[in-house]
Amino acid sequence: MRRLAPGAALALAGCSGPLSTLDPAGPGAASVAALWWVMFFAASAILLGVCAVALYALRRERRGRGLDAGRFVAGWGVAFPVTVLAVLLVIALRTGEGMLPKPGPEGALRVEARGQQWWWGFTQHDAAGGPVHTAGELHIPAGRAVDVHITAADVIHSFWVPRLTGKLDAIPGHENVLRLRADAPGVYEGQCAEFCGLQHAQMDFRVIVHPAGAYEAALAALAAARPDPSHPGAADFAASCAGCHAADARQDGAAPNLAGLARRGRIGGGTLENEGRESILLWLRRHETLKPGSREPSHAALDDAALSRIADYLETAR
Ligand code: CUA
Repeated sequence: MRRLAPGAALALAGCSGPLSTLDPAGPGAASVAALWWVMFFAASAILLGVCAVALYALRRERRGRGLDAGRFVAGWGVAFPVTVLAVLLVIALRTGEGMLPKPGPEGALRVEARGQQWWWGFTQHDAAGGPVHTAGELHIPAGRAVDVHITAADVIHSFWVPRLTGKLDAIPGHENVLRLRADAPGVYEGQCAEFCGLQHAQMDFRVIVHPAGAYEAALAALAAARPDPSHPGAADFAASCAGCHAADARQDGAAPNLAGLARRGRIGGGTLENEGRESILLWLRRHETLKPGSREPSHAALDDAALSRIADYLETAR
């Protein structure tokens, strides 16, 4: 029993956890999980069936009453797999179809997701129609259909939140739309699911699901989370960072939007847990070794005092 335990633990390790498809928290992921179980039980039944037929054929062979090879191959080698695969194909196509947006009375929320090496940027609009740009975190309400309009800035990426729905490619110059819905508030992990270069593994994001009634307030707080413009680090930020990064959620930029950075759970597409000012400072000092290949330029020209002021300035955006 003790010897079996590690093997069983390993086998079951994929059944839960933040990136598990088998722990669905929305209808899209539930249909993927259902498809997975159908395939698992069908494959298990087929395996047992094939073993039984092979044993039966062996026994007949030993008794000198071998099977008719032609009929055997036509039945078990062609007709049976074609039938099984056709059934699975129909179920899989219907599952995929269910993740695409459909016109309906429910009024889906529109958000835009843009993948780039190696982070995710999101744009959505508040009740007044004003844009709210974020990076690394997507905020949505619980219980409401959300249409994610997915595209990419450079190479092909793939948008995937395993507990909420299936994955869909992010393609430069093309927009794909994925419908998802989260049943309950919470934090759901997302990951780029298409190999896209050196830091593909450090291209994760989080979907923060708010109670439906608290969503607009959360979006407003996000839009208002600007750093303090009177802080001494504002001038350093303007001189060294603002060419690429916006620190205002109302503005877009070529690099990740840093409004509300201080309240994000992670930095650098999942490279670092954000434990406050020290994490931001660590990123500013060491990003080239923490995430080699990233487009963020070297900060070697900035002294430690300037980096500290920038970290302090970004910390004021809560
Ligand atoms: Cu982006 Cu992998």
